[in-house]
Amino acid sequence: MQFTRLPHPSPTPAERRAELIADPGFGKIFTDHMVVIDYDEDRGGWQAATIGPREPLTLDPAASVLHYAQEIFEGMKAFAHADGGLALFRPEANARRFSDSARRMAMPELPEETFLAAVREAVAADADWLPPIEGGSIYIRPFMFASEAFLGVRPAKQYKFIVLLSAAGSYFKGGVAPVKIWVAQGYVRAAPGGTGAAKTGGNYAASLVPQAQATQHGCDQVVFLDAVENRWIEELGGMNLFFVRADGSVITPPLTGTILPGITRDSLIQLLREEGLDVREEPYSLDQWRDEAQSGDLLETMACGTAAVVTPVGTVASPEGEFTIGAGGTGQLTTKIRERLVGIQRGTAPDPHGWVTRI
Ligand code: PLP
Ligand code: COI
Repeated sequence: MQFTRLPHPSPTPAERRAELIADPGFGKIFTDHMVVIDYDEDRGGWQAATIGPREPLTLDPAASVLHYAQEIFEGMKAFAHADGGLALFRPEANARRFSDSARRMAMPELPEETFLAAVREAVAADADWLPPIEGGSIYIRPFMFASEAFLGVRPAKQYKFIVLLSAAGSYFKGGVAPVKIWVAQGYVRAAPGGTGAAKTGGNYAASLVPQAQATQHGCDQVVFLDAVENRWIEELGGMNLFFVRADGSVITPPLTGTILPGITRDSLIQLLREEGLDVREEPYSLDQWRDEAQSGDLLETMACGTAAVVTPVGTVASPEGEFTIGAGGTGQLTTKIRERLVGIQRGTAPDPHGWVTRI
């Protein structure tokens, strides 16, 4: 795939860029370029790809994404390796999940090699935006939305695929400090047959009110229970969960279509099995979580995702009260597995699975 390079009239001066990336936080500092590829069913599908200045879009107010939310996205990171080169972590898995999300939302699939080429092109153009700080990365946000001006309810015929980049530090303000979780009350994230397994904006819109409840109760994140029995743990608003038990088993909720199939989740399953742990993808209930935490049968709970990496869950709160996991701090396995994952991603540890792709 050829990317036509559009000139940038005013790239950010190097000194200003250095200021911006010194303490970027998450999701606020954007780089200079973006990749754009349009899709038009009546013109043969995917059109020419461009890489040009990141700039506002012109969108018809009838664009169907604004009315019926046909939109999907991905979240991935580029890391700096010791030799100064940049690397991606399992980008083919993101490309595949993007296709899966597209099918669920009745959108055209972008060929996976085009997705990968677009990500590489964007990161290569803005490599100097990688924050030179511990835990720094370029957070990559490929997304696609329905741009056709049409108010009938049917799949659109025109779409825009864009790759945006953002300089990123830690997702949580406290870095890797344990987070406090609120159990969603009266709200679910996804129901069987719904869109829970797709990375589509509506799932996140639906999580905002319960997330606001969590914040009101002094918590960092909300955990969702299943929609049918209101009993089984599903996931957080943007992270999957693992429960580490004293008997050497580790449980993570199964992929039944209502949770996002996390790439970090899949990687941790493999890494934990290599540590000799008995990792099981099976339902785990809120009652079990509380009882096992209180009896000492549960040692740790970790939340994981691209943005949050591996983060310990310290406390769980609901109207019935709170319970603490372990001593409420960062457990041994959480620390160990986080270091293994980060070592592979950043090229300081061997990569036996071939998960890392150099740009
Ligand atoms: N669950 C949800 C709802 C998410 O948004 C994310 C983040 O992408 C994850 C889980 C973790 O997925 P991954 O590890 O692929 O980033
Ligand atoms: C990610 O981890 O990439 C996510 O998408 C989570 C959140 C920022 C939506």
